[in-house]
Amino acid sequence: MRKLVRKGVEELVPYPPGKPIEELERELGIKGSIKLASNENPLGPSPLAVQAVMDKVSTLNRYPDGSGYYLKSKLSEKFNIPSGQIVLGNGSNELIELIIRTFMSSGDHAIQPFPSFLVYEKIVTGAGGDMTSVSLSNLSIDLKGILNAITPKTKVIFICNPNNPTGGAISKDEMIQFLREIPGDIIVVLDEAYCEFVTDEKTANGIDLLDEHPFLCVLRTFSKLYGLAGLRIGYGFASEMVVEYMNRVRQPFNANTLAQAAATAALDDSAFVHRTLQVVREGLHYLCHNLDEIGVQYIPTQTNFFLIKVPGGGKRVYELMLKQGVIVRSMDSYDLPDYIRISVGLPEENERFIETLRKVI
Ligand SMILES: Cc1ncc(COP(=O)(O)O)c(C=O)c1O
Repeated sequence: MRKLVRKGVEELVPYPPGKPIEELERELGIKGSIKLASNENPLGPSPLAVQAVMDKVSTLNRYPDGSGYYLKSKLSEKFNIPSGQIVLGNGSNELIELIIRTFMSSGDHAIQPFPSFLVYEKIVTGAGGDMTSVSLSNLSIDLKGILNAITPKTKVIFICNPNNPTGGAISKDEMIQFLREIPGDIIVVLDEAYCEFVTDEKTANGIDLLDEHPFLCVLRTFSKLYGLAGLRIGYGFASEMVVEYMNRVRQPFNANTLAQAAATAALDDSAFVHRTLQVVREGLHYLCHNLDEIGVQYIPTQTNFFLIKVPGGGKRVYELMLKQGVIVRSMDSYDLPDYIRISVGLPEENERFIETLRKVI
């Protein structure tokens, strides 16, 4: 079998298959647990998106619109970027994969900061590529280190801004400088899954940077701010030429009918966006204030999640909290064993988190 699988696949481990909450509760004999582990929107999905899904359900006998016409038109209008520079994906995860399948061949090289979003390495390795991971410096992305890691075989560079799991962001000035130093024959993937949560005005915004590098791909998602993680819909901006090549490789119906309708409606849901940002900002304020009071260190964030340094190690705290019905993320696989990562929840969830943390440490 080893000989049969593609180069790189042997080294991969499957994504840890989490159990449904109901099953976990049954095993632990608890009820009413809360999940703060996956940077999701605690308010649920955008109500306008839910209505759009209901309205479309009766058309499910038809294939989706493979061109994503309405959603791309709406994105084009909102961001003032031509539809020909927009590509849709089954979550931005699929767009990462599509970029690799379009541009990387077996034996090509890619670079990522580490720790960052774990999917980059999985996809590159699974495609037979070689990934160089450049360690963060003081928990910030080391742009100089990434530039130094470029080789003649480098095809793709990943930058996650703000970075998952650290929550820190790169400024516009730093990013422009960085992009200008990257050779023009490398694809730069700028993953902005959390950009809407950013409060620091100096932070880079990929849409303003598309002219700074010929092969810049800016990726975004409806999973976080709009609460549509379960529907799987993401979008990307790049040059028309890059998008044209990605469309050659893309499955024609990768963005499903309900996801397209929901995302189109969600873009108009300014009340929901406003509420989400308010819940996240107020929640962060509450959580940080209480962590200060407990005397636990945390990393300042530009997102809806953040890292907390916990005495006794992240895995132990994760396990103890799980038994109390509070699901957080331990950071062992990100090589940050002293930390847990939590996403900001509803006020009552944040209170429960703080209460439980006090108990377990
Ligand atoms: C940095 C980053 N990029 C991309 C994604 C994937 O988003 P999607 O749900 O659109 O596939 C996530 C999800 O957690 C993420 O953290």
